[in-house]
Amino acid sequence: MRTTLQHTISTNSKRVTATQNEIKAFYDEATEDYSFWSHDLNMHFGYFSLGKTNPLRRDTMLNEMNAQVLKRLQLTSLKQMVADLGCGMGGTMRYFLNRHSSLSMIGVTLSDFQIVEGNKLLKKYPAVIIKEDFRNTSIQSNSVCGAIAMESFCHAGHSYSSLKEAYRILQPGKRFVMADAFLKKNPDQLCLGSRYSYRNLCKKWSLEGLGTISEVEKNLKQIGFSKVIIEDISLRAAPSVLHVPFAIPLFLIKKILKGESIKTQSWNNLKASFYALISGLHLRSFGYYIITAEK
Ligand SMILES: C[S@@+](CC[C@H](N)C(=O)[O-])C[C@H]1O[C@@H](n2cnc3c(N)ncnc32)[C@H](O)[C@@H]1O
Repeated sequence: MRTTLQHTISTNSKRVTATQNEIKAFYDEATEDYSFWSHDLNMHFGYFSLGKTNPLRRDTMLNEMNAQVLKRLQLTSLKQMVADLGCGMGGTMRYFLNRHSSLSMIGVTLSDFQIVEGNKLLKKYPAVIIKEDFRNTSIQSNSVCGAIAMESFCHAGHSYSSLKEAYRILQPGKRFVMADAFLKKNPDQLCLGSRYSYRNLCKKWSLEGLGTISEVEKNLKQIGFSKVIIEDISLRAAPSVLHVPFAIPLFLIKKILKGESIKTQSWNNLKASFYALISGLHLRSFGYYIITAEK
C-alpha cells in the first residue's frame, strides 16, 4: 500500500502512550544533555521579562520561570513543605530553597539518574528527590503548602489523575502552579502541520500528549480547585524556545568533535526540540501557560 503524508498523519493522530519505562529511559540517558541547556540544570523553557532577563543569556530566562512560579505559590515565611511533581535534576527546587530559608522540599521523578545526581546537588538543603509516580505519591493528604509541575504533567497528558494527586496532597487554601505547553484545541482539530509536529514531539519526548487548555481548566474545577487562573505566556516563553536550534545541535557537534558517541535519547531530544520549535510557531494550536489553582 502506498503511504502518503496525509495517511501517516491521520493514522498517527491517535493518542500517544508513553510508558513509564520509556520516560525513565529518556531521562536516564538524556538528562546529561540538559547541562548544556542550563547551567543550573533547569529542564524547562524560560520567561522573558524586559529589563530583568537577557534574551541572549538563556539561564536568566529559565530562572525567571522559576521566579514566576514561586511568586504564584504565595508562600509565607513560616516553616513549610513544597512538592515538585516531576522535578528533574531539582533545578527549581534549589532555586526555591535558596530564596526561602524556612522551606523544605520533596521532588518526585521516574529517573534513577536524576535521583542519584539530583540528590547530590541537594545535599546541603532540607530536600530530597524520590522515585515515585506523580499520579500516586506517598505524600500525605493535606500536607504540603504548595505543589508545582513544570513541564512534567505533559508526560501523562495533563491527566485528571495527575491534577487530582496535586489536589490531594495540598493543604486547603494552598496553591498548585503548573508551567507547561498546552493545546488550544482538540488534537483532531489540529491542522496537518500542527498534527505532524505534535505527534513527533510526543513520540520523541515520550509525552502522553498535551492537555487541551479548556479541558484542563474544566478538570481542575471539577476536582475542587478554586481561583483557577490561566495565563497564556507564549510570547514570554518564545525567546528561550528560539535558543533550541542553536543550543542542542551545538551540544551534539561538540560531542562528535570530542569523539564521543551520541546516545539514542540524545537524538530524540534533538528531534523533539525541533518539533517543539515548529509547534511553537503554530500559535493558534499551541500555547505556553502558567496555571495557578487554589485548593
Ligand atoms: C522536562 S522534565 C522537567 C523537570 C523539572 N520540572 C524542570 O523544570 O527542571 C520532566 C520531569 O518529569 C518527570 N516525570 C515524567 N513522568 C513522571 C511520572 N509519571 N511521575 C513522576 N515523574 C515523572 C521526569 O522524570 C522528569 O524529571
